[in-house]
Formats: sequence, C-alpha cells, structure tokens
Amino acid sequence: MELDLLCSLFEGLPRQGPGDFEHTHKAFRMLSGVPKGAKILDIGCGKGMQTIALAKLCPDCLITAVDIHQPFLDALNENAAAEGFSDRIKTVCASMDDLSFDEGEFDIIWAEGSIFIIGFEKGINYWKKFLKQDGFMMASDLVLFTENPPEELMDFLKICSPDPELCSPKIMTEDEGAEMANKAGFNVWGTFRLPANVWYDSYYNYVKENNKLLREKYRDNKEVLGVVEFNEKEMEVHSRYQKEYGYAYFVIQKN
Ligand SMILES: C[S@@+](CC[C@H](N)C(=O)[O-])C[C@H]1O[C@@H](n2cnc3c(N)ncnc32)[C@H](O)[C@@H]1O
Repeated sequence: MELDLLCSLFEGLPRQGPGDFEHTHKAFRMLSGVPKGAKILDIGCGKGMQTIALAKLCPDCLITAVDIHQPFLDALNENAAAEGFSDRIKTVCASMDDLSFDEGEFDIIWAEGSIFIIGFEKGINYWKKFLKQDGFMMASDLVLFTENPPEELMDFLKICSPDPELCSPKIMTEDEGAEMANKAGFNVWGTFRLPANVWYDSYYNYVKENNKLLREKYRDNKEVLGVVEFNEKEMEVHSRYQKEYGYAYFVIQKN
C-alpha cells in the first residue's frame, strides 16, 4: 500500500502509537544536564503528542519535529499554535533515513515508537552524528520480555506491519538493545517498559473506534480492509501476549 494512504488511515487517532505524557516525562527526567535552550530533534513525530509534551517539560527547548506524512505535521502545527508553542516547534517533512541536519546540531534526539521503521540498530547508528558530544537519545521500540517467546507471537511479529518493507524484521530483547547501543558508542542511562494498560488508554481504544469508521468508509477497498484486519489481529495478539513483549524506552548518551 502507498505510504501516504497507509498513514492517512491513522490521521483520526490522537497519537499514532502507544505512549503518554507520564512516560515521556519519565524518560525526560532521566536526562541529565540539559542545557538552556537545548535543541531537540523529534523523529517520526506523528501528530506530535510527545512533541507537545517535550515543549511543556522543557520550557526553553527548541524542537524540530520530523515526519514523512505532511498531514500529521499540519495537525502538530495547529496544536503547537493552540498551545502557544509555534515559536519553539518547527516541523520538517522528511524521511528518517535521509535527514539533512548538521552534524552535532542537536542536544537531544527523541524517537517515541518510530525507530522500528528503520530498525533500532540502524537508527541509533545513523542519527548519532546529528547529536552533540554527550548528547542524549531516547528511542522506544518493541522488545521481547522473554528469551523463549511463543511461536504464534513470533510469526505475527515477523509480519510486523501491513507493509513489511517499512519495518525492521528483527525484534530484540532489552539486553540486546543495550548491547547495540554500547556498540554504537552510547552509554545506556536506563530503560523502562511501557505498562500494557497504556497501550489501550492511549492507542488501542482509539484504534478500535477508528477501525469501525474505516470499515464503513472503505467497505469496497480490500487494501484498506486488510489494514483494518491487521490492526484487529495486532490487538488480539497483544491481549494474549502482553507479558511476552511490549515497548521499552531506551535513554542513551553519546560518548
Ligand atoms: C508508530 S507512529 C509514532 C508516532 C508518534 N511518535 C507517536 O508516538 O504517536 C510512526 C510515525 O513515523 C512516521 N513515519 C513512517 N515512515 C517514516 C519515515 N520513513 N520517515 C519519517 N517518519 C516516518 C509515520 O508517519 C508515523 O507518524
């Protein structure tokens, strides 16, 4: 499916992946020595719930929010204006694997629920050059909580998205993620898991409603109905295996 159409199916949701203010805050609190006027790059920002959260958590930070889907950025610009943050949040429509920022331009790189698109290892290695020395990166990604995951879960995670080309094929454990970060030249400051209930409160409850609307609006469009079915399968798998996998937040510092 064409990426713009795929993204447009998620425009009605308040955010495009699970997460909330509390956990953005928890990760942000783990950063140390954030300088006055710090520059933050928020990659794969979607409609920017975490962008607005960061603007609130860091009242003098300047944020550049990147996404590939312009309508998400339009929504973020509107929200930023409504919150009085237009002078501190700038949006850029670009692909996360082809960014034209300066080396060492940012104090902090933030990627909440988006690094899976290019893969954790590739993402942290590529984005590192845009960070200042000692700069922080926060990337949250899907991880396995067990060394012995059930086969059905692994079969599902291999599919991973309606468009497998878009996502990283391998799911890691938190230890493997930390190892990749060390190898890429980062110190791991800490990791924590997103509780399963946040998936529902912040995301799946809205996905369920959105699916109903999509089924109605696109009743003759097999491709879109395929995405709706995928979303339903994803929620079913999550309800059964949420103890075996979930999101982990990695807070790491460039050394
Ligand atoms: C799972 S959503 C997460 C969005 C947001 N961070 C949140 O937590 O709500 C992933 C986001 O990455 C964007 N995206 C997909 N492919 C991209 C790419 N190649 N470059 C930049 N953004 C991309 C999507 O448009 C979407 O907004």
